[in-house]
Amino acid sequence: MLAEVIRDLTHAEYELFRKLVYAQSGINLGSEKKQLVRARLGRLLRRGQFRSYRAYYDHVKNDASGQELCELLDAISTNTTHLFREKTHFDFLQTALRRWTQTGADRAARSTIRIWSAACSSGEEPHSIAMTAHDALRASPSVQVKLLATDISTKMLERARVARYEPHRVGTVPPPFQERYFRRVRQDATEWLELVPELQRLITFSRFNLMSEQFPFQHSFDVIFCRNVMIYFDRPTQQTLVNKFARHLRPGGFLLIGHSESLNAIQHPLKYVRPTIYEKARA
Ligand SMILES: C[S@@+](CC[C@H](N)C(=O)[O-])C[C@H]1O[C@@H](n2cnc3c(N)ncnc32)[C@H](O)[C@@H]1O
Repeated sequence: MLAEVIRDLTHAEYELFRKLVYAQSGINLGSEKKQLVRARLGRLLRRGQFRSYRAYYDHVKNDASGQELCELLDAISTNTTHLFREKTHFDFLQTALRRWTQTGADRAARSTIRIWSAACSSGEEPHSIAMTAHDALRASPSVQVKLLATDISTKMLERARVARYEPHRVGTVPPPFQERYFRRVRQDATEWLELVPELQRLITFSRFNLMSEQFPFQHSFDVIFCRNVMIYFDRPTQQTLVNKFARHLRPGGFLLIGHSESLNAIQHPLKYVRPTIYEKARA
């Protein structure tokens, strides 16, 4: 049987997708990502047997459940990540946690430490945070750590919740943590390394779109990781987001961004600590 021919993506169709993606996720595709959209959405068109990008677009717009939009955003967004990516952030976190929980006034103020991984992808970032926090707080058993990990992609969140890795993907984890925080499991003749349940229990995964008007969090965070996602947003979107993060940080808390990102060009109330690390002033 001949494969169905899909009509090529026109400029007008590209614009429709560009505007939809921007409005729904803040991801700014600009004018040069036509190839990327053609390739990443082409797969969804073939699966759904759509003959044109316009037909697929109409289908997404008419889907009241929002599931099709979710899949479209999944396909467009880049989910690359790995365990202990940008290791200096985890060293910084470890030092901050020890300082907060082992010294005078800070210790009394922080009986629960709240950390948010705000674009957690398939879980490597919150899993790395959980290992770091558990290790740093071993000498402070009365301190509780609560980790919130969110992403717009339901597919990535599903993977994150499973917390299983092919053994070679654990190579970036410091060796003592590999020993202590993973256990071997076998499934269908495949061997996996699984994050130990004790650490999994520290993390709450939830779908959250950073473009949401309201940030519905009851408590402020001690640390917010928002790494390697703002790079896809334009400057006004970054500015709105960073100011919201600032409002949801505790005084003395930190915002960590990706190493290729910077807050130089936007206005915000946070204090520069060192590249990619910002602090909310103490009250
Ligand atoms: C490149 S990954 C970064 C993962 C991790 N933070 C790291 O640095 O390794 C970017 C993630 O941002 C998510 N994302 C994109 N737009 C988003 C939005 N509007 N709200 C929440 N997450 C979003 C994507 O689904 C993707 O998982």
